Amino acid sequence: MNLASEIKTYFPKELLELLRHTSNEASKLGQRVYLVGGIVRDLLLGYPNFDLDLVTEGDAVELANRIARISGARLVIHPRFSTAKIKSGDFAIDIATARSETYARPGALPAVTPSSIEKDLFRRDFSINAMAISLTTEHYGQLLDPHHGKDDLHSHLIRILHPDSFSDDATRILRAIRYEQRLGFNLEHETARLLKRHIPMLDTISGDRIRHELELIFREEHPERAIKRLGDLGALQRINHSLSGNEWLAGKFDDARRLGKPGELPALYFCLLAYPLNGEQINQLASRLNPSAKLTRALEDTARLKLHLPRLNEPSLKPSDICYFLHEYDPLAIKANIIAEDKPVIRHHLELFLSKLRYVKLSLNGEELQRLGIPAGKKLGEILEILHKAKLDGEVTTKDEEEKLARQLKP
Ligand code: CTP
Repeated sequence: MNLASEIKTYFPKELLELLRHTSNEASKLGQRVYLVGGIVRDLLLGYPNFDLDLVTEGDAVELANRIARISGARLVIHPRFSTAKIKSGDFAIDIATARSETYARPGALPAVTPSSIEKDLFRRDFSINAMAISLTTEHYGQLLDPHHGKDDLHSHLIRILHPDSFSDDATRILRAIRYEQRLGFNLEHETARLLKRHIPMLDTISGDRIRHELELIFREEHPERAIKRLGDLGALQRINHSLSGNEWLAGKFDDARRLGKPGELPALYFCLLAYPLNGEQINQLASRLNPSAKLTRALEDTARLKLHLPRLNEPSLKPSDICYFLHEYDPLAIKANIIAEDKPVIRHHLELFLSKLRYVKLSLNGEELQRLGIPAGKKLGEILEILHKAKLDGEVTTKDEEEKLARQLKP
């Protein structure tokens, strides 16, 4: 099957130009080069995707150097992995040397050796991700599909390439469900059986790799679908026995999309997933998944704030009480609690803090207070706090009023 005309209509001009340079330079070097993985799947499905992965049966860095020189694109080389990234405008192309992989033990990172495109496709996760399109001049556009991925795309099936796939790399359990739910596909019968059987192999995967796969799920349009499915399969519980995916969580993820900024959504989903957990369970989750210090703090604060929320269920609380209570919590943890909490008074107080109170600043600063005759030291700090609380509570609004109050407070 030849996809040259599909390539032409699918990619923007700028990328087509880069692909043309790739073909030309590869043929000068006598290398065979291919588009591989997700981009081939999405091109066949007609879904937009401009994350291009190329594989060459030769020196990827040498080829990338040539393409960058000819096209004027920027080049980033990763010598440790012999891979390169070419960046041009909004687009990036990753180039790697075709390789085969062997797993010394389940869950270990594989040992890799330069290889043929066929072996490179065989090391991949699912048939729909194991296709390639030749960019080599004389075979330009030709589809390589040794595992019948195109048929599986038509039949809406996620299929592993060999029975050891999930035990070699149990992150594929999470990946299978991510694609299944994203594409609305089904797990092929034998794949489903082996996936369920190998769920305990998740124990062989490092926290960083599991967390990375969860983060990929959290970048999906509807991550709650994959989370619920992983919960139903018992895979979430295998990662941490306190986790679950249910209807409550699905509703909350939906709310998160309305309230969260796109960039913070993955971390917000994380906090919501962890919301039902207590402090001790959060610690266990963090030690399993090894999140960044920032995410760990957001997770811990989510649990800590949840515990203390009843204090905010008091309609007569002053803005300064709310602000001084909440300012020590991570804003993401506050957002997660707004989404998870049902009591309107508590929600209102949390929202008030996030949208307004946390931004309230005094017009006067410490130096100006000293000029008014208040000496630097503990007392000055106390006066600043009293002024700040007065401003939060609307007792002073202008700089003049702040000054007047400061003079009254002067020792
Ligand atoms: N891959 C794999 N096994 C993994 C991770 C990746 O076989 N554990 C292969 C698949 O062929 C996949 C490709 O590497 O298509 C690139 O990985 P990734 O960027 O994670 O997937 P894409 O399909 O490119 O992107 P997406 O998941 O967002 O659609």
